Amino acid sequence: MNLRPEIGLTFDDVLLVPKRSLIRSRSAVDTSTWLVPGIRLVIPIISANMDTVTEAPMAIAMAQAGGIGILHRFMPVERQAEMVAKVKRAESFIVEHPVTIQPGATLAEARLHMAQSGIGGLVVTDAAGHVLGMVTARDLLLAPQAEARVESVMTPRERLVVAGSGEPLDAARIKLHEHRIEKLPLVDSEDRIVGLVTAQDIVKLQEHPQATKDEKGRLRVGAAIGVRSSDLQRAEACVRAGVDVLVIDIAHGHAEHVTRMVQQLKQQFPHTPVIAGNVATAQGVQDLAQAGADAIKVGVGAGSICITRIVTGYGVPQLTALDDCSKAGKALGLPIIADGGIRNSGDLTKALAVGAASAMLGSLLAGTDESPGAAVVRDGRRFKVVRGMASLTANVARKEIEQQGEIEPDEWEKVVPEGVEALVPHRGGVADILHQLVGGLRSGMSYAGAETIDALHAKAEFIRITPAGWSESRPHDVNVI
Ligand code: XMP
Repeated sequence: MNLRPEIGLTFDDVLLVPKRSLIRSRSAVDTSTWLVPGIRLVIPIISANMDTVTEAPMAIAMAQAGGIGILHRFMPVERQAEMVAKVKRAESFIVEHPVTIQPGATLAEARLHMAQSGIGGLVVTDAAGHVLGMVTARDLLLAPQAEARVESVMTPRERLVVAGSGEPLDAARIKLHEHRIEKLPLVDSEDRIVGLVTAQDIVKLQEHPQATKDEKGRLRVGAAIGVRSSDLQRAEACVRAGVDVLVIDIAHGHAEHVTRMVQQLKQQFPHTPVIAGNVATAQGVQDLAQAGADAIKVGVGAGSICITRIVTGYGVPQLTALDDCSKAGKALGLPIIADGGIRNSGDLTKALAVGAASAMLGSLLAGTDESPGAAVVRDGRRFKVVRGMASLTANVARKEIEQQGEIEPDEWEKVVPEGVEALVPHRGGVADILHQLVGGLRSGMSYAGAETIDALHAKAEFIRITPAGWSESRPHDVNVI
């Protein structure tokens, strides 16, 4: 037997001690952090790779707000890759593969093409991609003959404003404005189409100045994968679709098959960062780091919907796990992601203060408009469902995807769940929740006198509290309305 002498602590066991602060306003605080080396987040928040939390709408909203979403893996490979592509298409100042049409096509075909791709203009090219003109919805609006040819209504090349492939964003914006046009085709030295800048995309860029974006101005997104050999194909499909980071999503991440997977991913996709987890010990961090992981996810049994600790007896209270793992991560230069158990901005601040670079949230984001699934009404109040990815129904759903059909009733009985299914209040848009969380974090950082997350790590001092201290910390002796 090996009984560790120290007591494992979690969020409610401690408070942060206020420090002398020179910060006069919460707006002076910088919450930016590293997700992995090379990917900066303006807000240190990640939406969890759970099927009741992150699909494309959540990933788009998270990246627009300055965080990032990790698409769950409990769906067919093609669907996950399509979701990656959807996030990558949602915003960018350059459309990389503009939809084109040939000059001999009919106006009816052009209309159909526009409707199917949901766009308002097509670049007209020859078969080799040379630009011959542009046709927009306005050109088609009152055109009488559906059978007329596109070339009869298009703006021809000689009247078209174009730019070179390397056109900087500001120059593109000026050109669009000066010529009062909405679309600017980008061409190579032989006048072949290589991209398109639209006024609408530039406006979107201004709407979300904090957004987490790649070097091409596209929103960033992560995708979860498992550790089976088929997960290498899943990874490949996501990488091809433009994923920014892969997340190995295993409940017990301190395991041989996880380190092997990290090594294989790093070998096969050397330019795609890999987050691995979950672990709860310094040794777990060191082993995954040695395998090549770029960041480590920490948390075993801490999540709101987890019953791993009840079913298996295993876990480390989250604050202690984060403390041990962050010290190991810091020594290796690896960011630590606090995953599970965060219920409010106070918990978020504590998770970061103890050493995490960012935090992953599940239930807290599951009740938003952007999470998958519809709201249900109970006793006149609206709720959404959140479920552990090791819950009974999530296990069954996974088996059904694998078998491509319903499983037999006796298969249900074989499942040993390590998660539960629950309702959370429907809370509206995720941007509002993030605003509250980040507001609380900013305030928390100012209590420490910390202008940055790094300063918070350095300055944070925790004090253990008793249950009496905890009751004092909550509203008490009043009837809260
Ligand atoms: P919160 O507390 O933010 O936690 O809802 C989200 C994290 O919980 C983990 N997770 C699970 N853990 N059984 C578990 O033991 C499960 O079924 C389960 N599903 C999710 C996961 O790390 C997630 O990010």
